[in-house]
Amino acid sequence: MDSELKIAPSILSANFARLGEEINAVMQAGADWIHFDVMDNHYVPNLTIGPMVCKSLRDDGINDFIDVHLMITPVNDLAQSFAKAGADLISFHPEAVASVTETIEIIKNSGCKAGIAINPDTSLSVLSDIIQEIDLVLLMSVYPGFGGQEFIEDSIEKIYAAKKLIDQQDHKIFLEVDGGINLETIASVSKAGANVFVAGSSIFGSSDYEKTIQSFRQKIS
Ligand code: DX5
Ligand code: ZN
Repeated sequence: MDSELKIAPSILSANFARLGEEINAVMQAGADWIHFDVMDNHYVPNLTIGPMVCKSLRDDGINDFIDVHLMITPVNDLAQSFAKAGADLISFHPEAVASVTETIEIIKNSGCKAGIAINPDTSLSVLSDIIQEIDLVLLMSVYPGFGGQEFIEDSIEKIYAAKKLIDQQDHKIFLEVDGGINLETIASVSKAGANVFVAGSSIFGSSDYEKTIQSFRQKIS
């Protein structure tokens, strides 16, 4: 197993009535990160969970890497609340903030890694001034807002381009792909250069989490 390749189940498709158990189950099944989707019914037309849920998971003993994906506006205050609540990495969408540099700084000063989330219609050029400041690029392969959507094939070319850009930097930057990842799509996402694979419905919708995660690993190693 290449530990540089991370499987990040999105808890958006978990059973929220048993969230802690669901997280423990996917981690035991071989997952690496917990992908925590935060939606505000404003930046995206859906509403999910906030920092209190993150803190409850930490208080309950969950010590896995929590990868927070903010699909909200404004960002800065809630990003700080997520850092206090135990997030490890916080990504945000550049369209949702007044100053991308300032928000990255706020996230990093609060002790978290920082990521930039890029929508299907957003150009990679948003990275040009700030790529040296970030730890992760989150490429959306669906329009943000809902789990269970179909993978947008054009994303593959964008993954190759983002990988090329990342390789030109002299610090480590994760390349995470989010949306529509399943047994059919994960191999080409990996081939294009991604190293963090978010998967919601294809993991939590499967009857055997371990079998599903193992099959993912076989396709990406
Ligand atoms: C979409 C979210 C994704 C989503 C992925 O807005 O950011 O993380 O939950 O779900 P699947 O894997 O079902 O496409
Ligand atoms: Zn996400």
